[in-house]
Amino acid sequence: MDKVLARGSAAARSRPRAAVVSILAAGAVVTATVAMATSASAGTTLGAAAAEQGRYFGTAVAVNKLSDSTYVGILNREFNMVTAENEMKWDATEPSQNQFTFSAGDRLVAHAQANGMRVRGHALAWHQQQPGWAQSLSGSALRQAMVNHITQVATHYRGKIYAWDVVNEAFDDGNSGARRNTSLERTGSDWIEVAFRTARAADPGAKLCYNDYNTDNWTWAKTQGVYNMVRDFKARGVPIDCVGFQSHFNSGSPYPSNYRTTLQNFAALGVDVQITELDIEGSGSSQATAYGNVVRDCLAVARCNGITVWGIRDTDSWRASGTPLLFDGSGNKKPAYTAALNALNEGGTPPPTTEPPTSEPPTSAPPTSAPPTSPPPGGACTATLTSNQWQGGFVTNVRVTAGASGLNGWTVSLTVPSGAAITNSWSTQPSGTSGAVTFRNVDYNRQVGAGGTTEFGFQGTGTAPTGTPTCAAA
Ligand code: XIL
Repeated sequence: MDKVLARGSAAARSRPRAAVVSILAAGAVVTATVAMATSASAGTTLGAAAAEQGRYFGTAVAVNKLSDSTYVGILNREFNMVTAENEMKWDATEPSQNQFTFSAGDRLVAHAQANGMRVRGHALAWHQQQPGWAQSLSGSALRQAMVNHITQVATHYRGKIYAWDVVNEAFDDGNSGARRNTSLERTGSDWIEVAFRTARAADPGAKLCYNDYNTDNWTWAKTQGVYNMVRDFKARGVPIDCVGFQSHFNSGSPYPSNYRTTLQNFAALGVDVQITELDIEGSGSSQATAYGNVVRDCLAVARCNGITVWGIRDTDSWRASGTPLLFDGSGNKKPAYTAALNALNEGGTPPPTTEPPTSEPPTSAPPTSAPPTSPPPGGACTATLTSNQWQGGFVTNVRVTAGASGLNGWTVSLTVPSGAAITNSWSTQPSGTSGAVTFRNVDYNRQVGAGGTTEFGFQGTGTAPTGTPTCAAA
């Protein structure tokens, strides 16, 4: 049994016991003890039943509802994984550029840790719920902002997150199977792998997931598009560990009968699969049947780690009118709850016994120095480096500042230290990966006005370059 599994099981079993005992008068404790013994082995809560199968059962949490006692009562009783419904998104965590607000996300992490729950991080890079300042960026400025955002957020939560949704919803709906045309996509089609490498660098212990919706039906073009990307990433060593299936089901996108096939085929690529935002619109027995099917499909796939529903009561749902969740507005269990719990208790394929990633987190703090703001006194341009170094690797950002004449093409030359190598770069064309390397502009950052700046970056193994690089007009 792996470490995660053991932790999940213990937590799931001990939490309900503590809750029961604490609210009972002393005279009733004997009765409670009997109930406890039954509950531990029978899986009478979603979290406990999932833990018996080596899985988790999670929910999205709105942090401002942690003061609602009905809500928290269900949360603490039933779930052993949480996702911040909105509080870890880009607009919430970086409302102004490079000014980070972690208080709401931190509250959720604290609640989870105090109650034996783990945390899924959601979401580092996404075209939705970006702060206004990011929406107005493009090209290398947006790319650089994304890299900085991922680095800072994943570094802040390093060691506390079970899995990150690193990139969310990057594929188009419809029949093309193509990537979604967003400002992030227009920074260069390597942005997704840059996001994953950056997240790995910041928190090597978290599983890194690609997360999307309408990827549940194996025959859909969007599913195939994501599948091909994941296959390519695995073939090229891009650090991806898992694929999240949001699984927001309704009449337009119903639970598909080939859902298990989809989960199996992705898992066969060598990634974990997770059901990350489950909700199923409807009611009564048809809704209950669909919930039971989803649970059975996950349990049938060894690498399906667990299931997260997107809210607790129907009234908490982002799609409340569709009554898509497991508890009604008063907090009562619905038929869908019973179906999900029963399906968990039927059991399935045990998870594999391999350990999750355990590499040590980096020990260095993220960069804190502010970039220069004034133009250089003379010469065509200057360049400065800002690096985030960890044991074994680095991300370096380079700021190019044009001199009084402006630039119509530029190069930056530096020496990569011995033993180090560049593995990935953005907004530039490097001449090589080690030793003396010259970085040339790409099309969209060729022109820089007098005193203006542009940025590019690269990532590598070993020690980051230091010193002042040579900048020249080209
Ligand atoms: C939703 C939240 O539930 C809402 O509160 C918010 O207004 C919009 O976002 N896909 C995702 C989630 O990845 O982050 C979305 O959450 C639902 C769709």
